[in-house]
Amino acid sequence: MIFGATGDLAKRKLFPSLYNLFKKEQLGRFAVIGVARRTLTNEEFQNNVKQSVNPDGAENSEIDEFASRFYYHSHDVTDSNSYAALNRLATEMDSHYGLKGNRIFYLAMAPEFFGTIAEHLKLDGLTETQGFKRLVIEKPFGHDLDSAKVLNNQIRTAFSEDEIYRIDHYLGKEMVQNIEVIRFANAIFEPLWNNRFISNIQVTSSEVLGVEERGRYYEKSGALRDMVQNHMLQMVALLAMEPPIRLTTDEVRSEKVRVFRALRPIKDSDVNQYFVRGQYGKGKIQDLEVPAYNQEEMVSPESNTETFVAGRLMIDNFRWAGVPFYIRTGKRMAAKSTKIVVQFKDIPMDLYNKQEGSVNPNLLVIHIQPEEGITLYFNAKRSGQSLNSTPVKLSYANKGIDGLNTPEAYEKLLYDCLRGDATNFTHWDEVALSWSFVDNISAVWENEKESFPNYESGTMGPKAADELLEKDGFFWWPVTDLDVETC
Ligand code: BG6
Repeated sequence: MIFGATGDLAKRKLFPSLYNLFKKEQLGRFAVIGVARRTLTNEEFQNNVKQSVNPDGAENSEIDEFASRFYYHSHDVTDSNSYAALNRLATEMDSHYGLKGNRIFYLAMAPEFFGTIAEHLKLDGLTETQGFKRLVIEKPFGHDLDSAKVLNNQIRTAFSEDEIYRIDHYLGKEMVQNIEVIRFANAIFEPLWNNRFISNIQVTSSEVLGVEERGRYYEKSGALRDMVQNHMLQMVALLAMEPPIRLTTDEVRSEKVRVFRALRPIKDSDVNQYFVRGQYGKGKIQDLEVPAYNQEEMVSPESNTETFVAGRLMIDNFRWAGVPFYIRTGKRMAAKSTKIVVQFKDIPMDLYNKQEGSVNPNLLVIHIQPEEGITLYFNAKRSGQSLNSTPVKLSYANKGIDGLNTPEAYEKLLYDCLRGDATNFTHWDEVALSWSFVDNISAVWENEKESFPNYESGTMGPKAADELLEKDGFFWWPVTDLDVETC
């Protein structure tokens, strides 16, 4: 059952992902009930589904068959009678398609209704089923720790922790999942993956798009809650965690939780020293003038909301003591790019180059998007008579290996949920710890007005973000110059 079935997420991500799974015969026996407020017939809903997976509308019997499994229920989220009717429909589908009472409830709608829906699912009998029941819940999971707790308590009345699948779509990205494989399936990286050999790690997720039509949500959220509390901290956890003893959901998630527990909390007086916020002003994106954030729809001209965050995180454990993890994310930046740069320490002395410091540090770059791959930067002999070194690179482009497009994040996550594998979903403990980390920062920022806008659209953010690294003797490796070769 998809709640919010007429919404954007369903149309853009969920229907196409389900269709891909259907084509690969990974859906098994299934039916989908679309649930939303609007009045639609099954046929109209099925047409929406077809339109989403096949925008040019060409005849396709496979799509017709796929869409025929979709049913629609017009719903009022606060009305028990409406849930009772939904339950009857689900029971009918169950016996018609032989679904053994297995139910997945996917909440792809406004978060203010998450708790109410979960409570009604229990109250009105939808969770009383012979098979499994699972709840998939989109972000935002609360607005801060307190509201997240309230929401969690509401959904826990109807679902146990292991029935709850909290989506962080970054955890479905191919190269985010690859982080642990790169680390734990190679003998050459893990021995160096610590404070003896790594000088700093930089995680950048920059976007070119602005806030678009999401001003109302974003004004209350800002980049810290929208990106840092979830996606950025999740990537840090995967980079920093200890090898799990095995790859079960519990083992992996508990290693990530230990990273969150080791994150050094930021004192109020240090927030502006280690965290930088920005808001985009007007500027140019690919030669087109774009407006400032505070001129966007549903945004206050006086807005104090950040559209950019850079920060320095410290992980206080034996492995990472002294190694800064720098994170940076923002809207209306120069490029759409998510990259991780692992910078290794300098060699003790440079034998090959006359000028001190002229040899480049080794870098391991993990390209998350738009291109997917890994590049290792190292130094080799410059061809010719003299013994000088020059930086060279080894690249692996993920899509090059078999010419296939890797599945989209949502496709993978839906498949995991169908199989009952919650490893790539966030556990409550991760959510709680990451909120408490972020709450420290937002509490300070909410009380201090920043002079926004402070970066021009189409740039890599405010100058203070560069100074954050300069203070430690580092600089952001320019994400636009670190490319991956296509094999
Ligand atoms: C979402 C945020 O979680 O992630 C958006 O709410 C952001 O504001 C998006 O644009 C970025 O995702 P991706 O996959 O495009 O990097």
